[in-house]
Parts: sequence; C-alpha cells; structure tokens
Amino acid sequence: MKLTYYGHSCFGAEMKGKHILFDPFISPNELAKDINIDEIRADYLLVSHGHGDHVADAVSIGSKNNSRAISNFEIVSWFEQKGVHGHPMNHGGKVKFDFGVVKYVNAVHSSVLPDGTYGGNPGGFVIWNDEVCFYFSGDTALTMDLKLIPMTCPALDFAILPIGDNFTMGYDDAIMACDFIGCDKVIGCHYDTFGYIKIDQARAKKAFEDKGKELILLPIGESLDL
Ligand code: NI
Ligand code: MN
Repeated sequence: MKLTYYGHSCFGAEMKGKHILFDPFISPNELAKDINIDEIRADYLLVSHGHGDHVADAVSIGSKNNSRAISNFEIVSWFEQKGVHGHPMNHGGKVKFDFGVVKYVNAVHSSVLPDGTYGGNPGGFVIWNDEVCFYFSGDTALTMDLKLIPMTCPALDFAILPIGDNFTMGYDDAIMACDFIGCDKVIGCHYDTFGYIKIDQARAKKAFEDKGKELILLPIGESLDL
C-alpha cells in the first residue's frame, strides 16, 4: 500500500485501488500550504473524532469526491446532514469494505464537532486486508485498551500514532504504546502543527531507536510504500 502524509493527522492511503483519506485538516494548516486539496482523492473518509484539526476539510473533500465517510454513529450522522453519505460504526465493531476490514477501536480523548454538535466518543481504526494491517490511532492517550489490539486483530505492520504530547500521548508514551500493540514501526503524527505540540524531532527518533523501535516522520506531501 501507498501512504501519503498531508500534515498533522491527515494521511492518504491507497489500498486495493481505493483512496482512503484520514482526518483531513489541510487548508487551515500553515505547514501544509503546498498541498493542493483539489488533487486529493478520497473514495473513503475515515474520521477518528470530531475536533476541527481532524475534520476541517472533510465536508468539502467528501462532497467533491462523493466519498463515503466512516466514523462513529454521531459523526456519520453529522456528515449525512451535510450531504456526505457514510457508514456509521461504534467501538469494537468491524466491517468489511472493498479495500479491507475496518475495526473502530477505543481512544482516550474527547470529541465534539466544530459547530458544537456532539461527536460521540473518539476512536481509532485498525485496517487490514491480505496485504497489510495497520493502526491509525487518532488522538489518544496511552491506555491499557491498546493491549486489546493484538488480541483481536491480525499482527500490525505499522502504526500511525500521535507523538506531540499536550493533547495526546507524547513520543515517550508512544514508545510504550508500541509494546501494548505489538508493533515497533511507528509513523508519527499530531506534532509541530501548533505551539502546544512542537517537539524535538531528532530527540523523538533517538528515543525510539534507544528502545529498538523505529519512528518515521514523513515530510508533508511525501509518500511511502509499505
Ligand atoms: Ni482531538
Ligand atoms: Mn487533534
């Protein structure tokens, strides 16, 4: 699969010929100013929770691409009201789509949509098909629930975890999360976008290395084959 970073917590994945976009927050992100959102394709929009830094461009991209939104029931209901159709899920449930299986898993965070609509409880996604299995955690603290992932899902090839601290786990807790989820390859997100979450990237990478783990920090706009 191909994974492209669009800044903050926004990634595009190509799986089985489908384009999947996670947590679109691009146009308000100064660091992502070179990304042209009109060029982004999204057959599916996967939204972890309702905060603005995860949904800012979701309705515009979703409308333009006729995307199918996948999130919790409350967020999908909000999308439907805005004309973007979706598939509602809730924690612990899994669904088979044409690109793979999606399981909506727990996150410890909060969730309200930008217009004040209740966003349900925040979550993350484990996604797998016969080629790959990965975890997109969304915003979360380090939590014991992470240990359920290797008990209920195929072995992870990699995980996309927040490392910016303050609103989510920091990179030190993300290192511990690796042990909980049984995966030593992490693609970092949710760092450097705002003052509150600025990190020392070299230090974060070194901290992972010291524990025999890998932290990949993709430049915005770059892709990786996984
Ligand atoms: Ni959040
Ligand atoms: Mn966030």
